[in-house]
Amino acid sequence: MAALVPSALRDGRRKRLVAHASAGWRAGSKFAFGVFHADDGTLLGGAGLSRLDRDAGSANLGYWVASPHRGRGVATRAARLVARSGFEHVGLTRLEIVTLPDNHASQRVATRLGAARMGVVENRMLVDGQPARVVLSVLTVGARRSGG
Ligand SMILES: CC(C)(COP(=O)(O)OP(=O)(O)OC[C@H]1O[C@@H](n2cnc3c(N)ncnc32)[C@H](O)[C@@H]1OP(=O)(O)O)[C@@H](O)C(=O)NCCC(=O)NCCS
Repeated sequence: MAALVPSALRDGRRKRLVAHASAGWRAGSKFAFGVFHADDGTLLGGAGLSRLDRDAGSANLGYWVASPHRGRGVATRAARLVARSGFEHVGLTRLEIVTLPDNHASQRVATRLGAARMGVVENRMLVDGQPARVVLSVLTVGARRSGG
């Protein structure tokens, strides 16, 4: 298990995040991965699956990269690995990527993964407690294979 914990977070919050991620792994309800530099172990970011619906074979795919490490393909590579794991090891067939409309970098990552942009969806999530409009992209197991 690797937790998604930026080093800048205060200890209490780090512990809560690790506990939350660990509980998700134990329950099989969400799978969070940390992304680390292969040479020195620096935490670069994270990616993971959440909102698993095994009956539907679907989950949410999320990712983040710490500011100094953005723009070098880290999110795309990490998300691709996590998606592959979800398809091949968990047996999922559909991954949803939910982004805010102005998050063009995240939408670009979704496109590079081979996800299809389904369009704008109203009230898909809460942001600061308020219903938010999002862009929904969907990566299916078949599309992933043809999209690389
Ligand atoms: C979105 C995020 C994960 C991207 O991480 P990253 O490692 O920089 O992503 P990659 O390098 O793999 O790819 C980024 C792509 O977005 C493009 N991009 C970056 N900033 C952009 C912008 N402002 N507008 C449009 N495209 C942009 C890059 O050019 C690149 O595409 P390209 O390789 O075709 O040129 C990162 O910016 C982040 O952590 N943001 C905050 C958290 C977040 O939004 N997570 C996603 C929620 S679903």
